[in-house]
Parts: sequence; structure tokens; C-alpha cells
Amino acid sequence: MENQVDNERLLRFAADLCGKCEMQITELTDDDRKWVQERTELLFGGDFVVSREEVHDPHELPGFIASEGPERVGLVTYNITGKSCEIVTIDALCQFMGIGTELLDRVEIEARAAGCNRLWAITTNDNLDAQRFFQKRGFVVSEVRLGSMSKIRLLKPNIPREGCYGIPIRDEIEFERPLVNDPAARLGT
Ligand SMILES: CC(C)(COP(=O)(O)OP(=O)(O)OC[C@H]1O[C@@H](n2cnc3c(N)ncnc32)[C@H](O)[C@@H]1OP(=O)(O)O)[C@@H](O)C(=O)NCCC(=O)NCCS
Repeated sequence: MENQVDNERLLRFAADLCGKCEMQITELTDDDRKWVQERTELLFGGDFVVSREEVHDPHELPGFIASEGPERVGLVTYNITGKSCEIVTIDALCQFMGIGTELLDRVEIEARAAGCNRLWAITTNDNLDAQRFFQKRGFVVSEVRLGSMSKIRLLKPNIPREGCYGIPIRDEIEFERPLVNDPAARLGT
């Protein structure tokens, strides 16, 4: 019981502390590209990502950086094609503190300004945190590619066999969310 009270106090303290930090979201600049490349290598087993058989270099894409003071604490990269905006990578260095949400909101503003009617993103079957994150923010599963990671591993042999929570990494899951201000807007056009 005492431990539970201590834990609750600690969580409240951490949340208060976070609330006092001033997070800044700024456009990704050339000064950030090396860091983006390093983060991509760390998280995705190589400095490129494969999306629907297309290769992306996140460090060459547009994006946003979240910072607290001089420290970078998150990043998002995106790619707009026609009326669709793909979240290519999204990465919060400290999870569950609102960084991912702020970054996603910023991309949404950009996508709407560019006339997009759809946001989409790919994650893997093991990434339960990302699946929760996208679904709680209005995304729905739009496609599942069973076993597709074995094909991607031919290009990226460094992708581990086991991912989050020790779950084998096997499948890709695509999520999408319509941007629906305009009732005439249709998905995927
Ligand atoms: C997916 C990912 C980007 C989410 O980012 P995040 O910063 O953890 O997300 P947020 O903090 O904005 O939201 C997550 C939860 O934390 C909660 N939260 C936000 N601020 C909080 C705070 N101050 N205290 C406690 N909880 C908080 C949110 O309410 C949210 O809960 P919900 O999902 O039940 O609504 C992050 O998990 C990540 O970087 N994962 C590794 C990279 C990755 O897998 N990317 C996806 C594939 S490209």
C-alpha cells in the first residue's frame, strides 16, 4: 500500500515536471539531418525505411523536431504524395509525455495546408505502443501484410527477429486516418 502511494506521488511529480518543460516543435533543418539519420539507424535497423516497396531516406524528408531547451526529444518525418500524407517515421525519445501527439498534430496541420485528405503510417505487429498511439488518435487499420518483414529483411538484414516486448517481428500493419473537414473529400484520391 505504501509503495503504491509512493509510486503515485512519483508519477504526479514526473507529470508536473513535464508540464513545466517548454517543448518546442520546429521544422527539421539541414543541421538535424545527421541526427535523424542516426535515430533511423537505431530504431529501424538501417538509415532508410521501406514502405510499400518504396525506399525512403527519412533524413532527406521534410519533418519536425521536438526540443526541450537545447535537447532534441523527438522527430517526425513525412512524405506527401498527391492527397495522401505518409508519416514515414515518428520517434519520441521519452515516451508517454505528449511528444508523439504534438509531432503528429504538427504534421496534420502541414498535410491539411497541402490539401491532403488522408494521413497514413506503417508499423509492425510487435509495436503495440505505436498501434495504441495511432488508434487512440483516430487511425484505423487499412491493410495488414502478413509475413512481409521477411522480404524487407533481404534489404535490411539488421532488423532484429524479436521486437517490442520480445514479440517476433513478422508483419506490417498500415493505419490511416481521413482528414475530413471537407465532406466531399474522398480517401485515397
Ligand atoms: C509511437 C510513439 C511515437 C508515441 O509517442 P509518445 O510520445 O509516447 O506519445 P504520447 O506521449 O503523445 O501519447 C502516448 C500516451 O501518453 C499519454 N501522455 C501524454 N502526456 C503525458 C504525461 N505528461 N504524463 C503521462 N502520460 C502522458 C497520452 O495521453 C497517451 O495516452 P493514450 O495513447 O492512451 O491517449 C512512441 O511510442 C515512439 O517513439 N515509439 C518508438 C518509435 C516507433 O515505434 N514509431 C512508430 C513507427 S514509425
